[in-house]
Amino acid sequence: MSSHFLFVVCQVGSEATVKNEVSRKHPSFRFSFSRPGFVTFRIPDEVARDRKFELNCAFARTWGFSLGKAVGTDGQQLAREFWKPFAERYPADVLAQFKHLHVWQRDRFVPGESDFEPGITPLAEGIGELILEHQPTVGTPWSLPLNEDAQVDDRVLDCIIVEPDEWWFGWHRANTVETRWPGGVPDVESPENMISRAYLKIVESLLWSELPIQPGDRFVEIGSSPGGSCQALLDRGCFVTGIDPAEMDPLLLANPNFTHLRSRAKKVERNDFQTFRWLAMDANVAPKYTLDTVEAIVTQPEVRIEGLLLTLKLTDLALAAELPLFHKRIRSWGYRRVRARQLAFNRQEVCVVATDLVKPRSDTAD
Ligand SMILES: C[S@@+](CC[C@H](N)C(=O)[O-])C[C@H]1O[C@@H](n2cnc3c(N)ncnc32)[C@H](O)[C@@H]1O
Repeated sequence: MSSHFLFVVCQVGSEATVKNEVSRKHPSFRFSFSRPGFVTFRIPDEVARDRKFELNCAFARTWGFSLGKAVGTDGQQLAREFWKPFAERYPADVLAQFKHLHVWQRDRFVPGESDFEPGITPLAEGIGELILEHQPTVGTPWSLPLNEDAQVDDRVLDCIIVEPDEWWFGWHRANTVETRWPGGVPDVESPENMISRAYLKIVESLLWSELPIQPGDRFVEIGSSPGGSCQALLDRGCFVTGIDPAEMDPLLLANPNFTHLRSRAKKVERNDFQTFRWLAMDANVAPKYTLDTVEAIVTQPEVRIEGLLLTLKLTDLALAAELPLFHKRIRSWGYRRVRARQLAFNRQEVCVVATDLVKPRSDTAD
């Protein structure tokens, strides 16, 4: 039997969804261990050896190969234990190829609950420093930044604080945007006057999707009140239109680059969408309603929206299994690339990004 394991970090409450998604996509993986926000699987040897392996699961915030854990109350001892599996496995010259150390705590709550937001805690930072104090010598200078974003393809040492006295050890290769962030959480700077936490969500979705938005782009958001995401888009120099029957924050109404259409999306004239380059939808409605609304807009011959950022509310977690069907439907509108992720700053919802539009141009001669 294989002795290789994979760890997955997710939102608290998404563990069963992760298990289901992993078993659909990787039937040979065997569930091994789970705590809220942290799940491990036994994986076949060939997967562990495959340099190009990608987990590709929307509900995995980040993931890596697990090398076990240490339990105890003596931090110095645990920090020494951290290095053992690496020193046993890798000769010094291979160990020296690790470029970063990421240390983080599993989430304690659902994001946004009890003022909790995911990210690096002072405890994790302190434990990281302790681990670095015990860094072995490898014969060459070996700098190991703590909790900084990795570069593409860097190898990263991971320590997940599942409990303050239970540290899990692992590593990963940072071959996707989210695996470059410590714990799969981007370091988002929020303004003091942040209007709503949707600010954090849209910034993460822009970073993760690498959507090439430019200052001066026209962006429309359906479900825009009170206005956190519009605020972030205005900060990036976009001209923003918010569609929502509810009130927008006065800060936005005072901004000349912002327009409020105080209405439900379905009441807005379809022609009004012709000038937009990007569309986001973050309405508190079922996924089918979101998809129906967006479909009615983007399938208009004159509308050419290059990229969609859709928040699909998982009113029922069983909807997670329907993501492939949602993707198929969005692709049928002409978007060749459709990706989903439960963002670190999402709640019981996922972010779906659609890009690479192929759509015949309508005849605009008259
Ligand atoms: C989660 S809030 C949006 C948060 C917002 N994105 C922000 O940045 O603060 C959901 C919003 O969707 C709006 N909504 C629900 N159904 C809608 C519809 N059919 N058209 C437009 N807005 C809708 C609600 O009025 C509510 O303000």
